[in-house]
Amino acid sequence: MPLFLCLFLLLMGCSHKVKIVAPSTTEPRVAHEASSSRHMVATQGEATSRAALGILERGGNIIDAFVAASFVISVERPQSTGIGGGGFLLYFSKSDHKVYAFDFREVAPIRSFAKMYLNKAGHPQALLSQEGALAVAVPGLVKGLHEIHTRWGRLPWKETIAPAIKLAREGFPLYNHLQVAIEDRKQILRLDDDARSTFFTSRGEVPLLGTIIYQPDLAKTLEIIAEEGSDGFYKGKIANSIVNTIKNRQGIMSFNDLKNYKVKERTPVEGEYRGLKIYSMPPPSSGGIHVIQILKMLEPHNLRAKGPQTTDAIHLTAMAMQRAFLDRALYLGDPDFHPVPQASLLDQHYLDKLSTSLNRTHLIKAQDLKPLSLPYESSETTHFTLADKEGNMVASTQTINGWFGSGVVAKGTGIILNNEMDDFAQKVGVQNLFGAVGGENNLVEPGKRPLSSMSPTIITKDGEPYLALGSPSGTRIISCVAQTIMNKVEFEMPLYEAVAATRIHQQWFPDELKIESPFLSQKVENELMAKGHKIVHANLGCSVQAISRTETGWTGVSDPRGEGLAIGR
Ligand code: GLY
Repeated sequence: MPLFLCLFLLLMGCSHKVKIVAPSTTEPRVAHEASSSRHMVATQGEATSRAALGILERGGNIIDAFVAASFVISVERPQSTGIGGGGFLLYFSKSDHKVYAFDFREVAPIRSFAKMYLNKAGHPQALLSQEGALAVAVPGLVKGLHEIHTRWGRLPWKETIAPAIKLAREGFPLYNHLQVAIEDRKQILRLDDDARSTFFTSRGEVPLLGTIIYQPDLAKTLEIIAEEGSDGFYKGKIANSIVNTIKNRQGIMSFNDLKNYKVKERTPVEGEYRGLKIYSMPPPSSGGIHVIQILKMLEPHNLRAKGPQTTDAIHLTAMAMQRAFLDRALYLGDPDFHPVPQASLLDQHYLDKLSTSLNRTHLIKAQDLKPLSLPYESSETTHFTLADKEGNMVASTQTINGWFGSGVVAKGTGIILNNEMDDFAQKVGVQNLFGAVGGENNLVEPGKRPLSSMSPTIITKDGEPYLALGSPSGTRIISCVAQTIMNKVEFEMPLYEAVAATRIHQQWFPDELKIESPFLSQKVENELMAKGHKIVHANLGCSVQAISRTETGWTGVSDPRGEGLAIGR
């Protein structure tokens, strides 16, 4: 057993967990499903979906719509993402017949170091990487959007930011998920004057549903970015505020950190699955590799013949997830710092061995699961998916990590700073906010990107875009994206049913099978328990936003568990 597994077993149970809001069952299907022969948009926010569609209808291209959606969702879901965070983009360009991947993930500050979250006795201090200034990694979102827009945008930059400025200034009514998130993080948010004045009543209470949330400081910040491009964020007044706020709260980010931030173009990971080509996000996300691993492990087992939600199908799927998450903990990290054996992890012989290892009637307990040898070789958030009438597609997942990130607002700017440092391993074998175990490759190092699970994915059929999707929710993203693909491709469900169906999640540690409402039948759950699964009913927090090609255009689905909107025209 690797050393860190042993260490991990000693250290289990020290993570702080964020509660996940219960899925909404009351919203009408009409907001969550749409068809169109031209443009299609599926996002987690109504204003965001309308803004992105508006840009496409005004003659903007899909990159203009991507930029507009990114800025508006930053305003509409400040608990999930924002310009104080980062993300990934997968873009299918119809004219090039090529999928591009962009990494605008946050990086660790220059003054960070591997043991920065350990006390003198060497014990992890989970809250230090989750709350306050030390939790903040250098944001990448604004630079990412600006560089991608400079390369491909059609409309003026300013025009793509205008809808976000308007929403921040004019406000929007408080909705359920945002209210739950404010309630959940109220202790940390109340410590910050700017967060308190934006997200609480004048008496310091959590506002009632429907109360208008105004973000005037953020509107001013967005105006500066509209005028000056990404320099408006990484230099000058806004950079001063970010650095000084962090310094005043004992953080370590400097002007050089902001000045040196670099966007990276990456090569998507690829896999073949049931005659389709899957493209997904490579490291520093673990998402793409493990979505493909799960699908490839299950492909030979012909789940279609077993049927969805059956004991055998769930048992096999959970075991495939368990295997993938063990690999995640062992091998994944920022490839610019430690080589990730990506080719080996997706090698067909290795996948065959993993697939064969699923031929078991009983689950292997987490601490007894042994990694298989790799062949020699020469990983709270938001997601949106867009498609246009030309046949381009975009899948982008963006985040500030936990709800309201670090809870620190850069003074006077309305920018909520991320707590992405928690996606690093505080120590080998220790769990993070999402219960994920980190290995050697994911320890903090200056300038390194923390390992992600974000899995924006585009699937093509005969070279043409067929399905694009993604989801928020930390490590659960991998399971939710893989199952939605299986539901659509393996079980041939219509897209709405593929997104709405019961989901499960198994991440090796903790040693449990999470099952989300609508729950499986009692009979199936009893059979799974008899096979060694410890069942926990839980909300996984995913909100899949998916678009698939139809004979006449596109179908879009915004997960019925959330407040999003699928809309086309
Ligand atoms: N912050 C969650 C992720 O990147 O997976």
